Amino acid sequence: MNHTSRLLGEIGALRCPHCASSLLPQCDETGRAKSLFCTGERQHCFDISRAGHVHLAPHHVGGGDAKEAVAARSQFLGKGYYGAALQTLIELSAKHIGGGLILDAGCGEGYYTGGVAKALGEAAQLCGFDLSKDAVMTAAKAAKRDGLTAAYAVASVFELPVRDGCADGVLNIFAPCAEGEYCRVLKDGGVLIVVGAGEKHLLGLKRAIYDEVYVNEGRADLPVGMELIEEKTVEDEVTVDGGEMIAALFSMTPYYWRTPRAAAEKLAALESLTTEIAFDFKVYRKK
Ligand SMILES: C[S@@+](CC[C@H](N)C(=O)[O-])C[C@H]1O[C@@H](n2cnc3c(N)ncnc32)[C@H](O)[C@@H]1O
Repeated sequence: MNHTSRLLGEIGALRCPHCASSLLPQCDETGRAKSLFCTGERQHCFDISRAGHVHLAPHHVGGGDAKEAVAARSQFLGKGYYGAALQTLIELSAKHIGGGLILDAGCGEGYYTGGVAKALGEAAQLCGFDLSKDAVMTAAKAAKRDGLTAAYAVASVFELPVRDGCADGVLNIFAPCAEGEYCRVLKDGGVLIVVGAGEKHLLGLKRAIYDEVYVNEGRADLPVGMELIEEKTVEDEVTVDGGEMIAALFSMTPYYWRTPRAAAEKLAALESLTTEIAFDFKVYRKK
């Protein structure tokens, strides 16, 4: 049976996005899980792609990052510029979650999901959700290629296709924080790790495009029913070489959409960019 589709079939905690019934795998004659079907009256069916991902977003939900944004982020993250953030996420996941079912809400193309899956090994079952089909497909292909215990589905973080109280951990990295939904899917004592931009994140990039620069404000998430158990800020400095890689970084930022053309052209003229990077980690435990 195909590795990633087998994992999807094995999760057991998945639920139908239409009627909330449990999802079970349906295999073909070779034993490959080719779809998930629900145990509800209507038996809703969801095909598992060859890449190993499945679409579990309700029909009215669309969006998520476009193909170009996904490609740019893959290119940039693949070079390891945010390795300090991944390392800290792995340490906090190992310390506070350890294993079991870990959801990555807004997983993108699985840079962090895959990294945590690799580090925790068979002790953990990672499941990434993102609204972007292109991101999820990229993530599923990488998991299949690298033999990781990670499965992926297209789904909104606000309507996770997961039964109540099933997850040991939820990761939420640079993606919308659906606090109430994360609390619903976590077991009692389960852990939520939220990662956002620290004060000095990309200050050097901002200096290259704006005359006046400000530090970032912290995230104001206040998960209900949870207590903050650890906070950590990780700072580093990176030098991004080459116009293509600088452009990839720029396209990952919110400034990409709101920077006047003349300012963006200053960045495009650079061959090398040195910038601070900073990540705020907040770890919550469900009461
Ligand atoms: C800045 S990216 C971060 C991706 C990944 N966590 C990372 O740090 O590399 C934000 C991601 O959130 C996804 N996203 C935005 N709104 C979402 C929603 N309501 N449900 C699921 N994913 C969403 C986007 O498609 C995108 O992949």
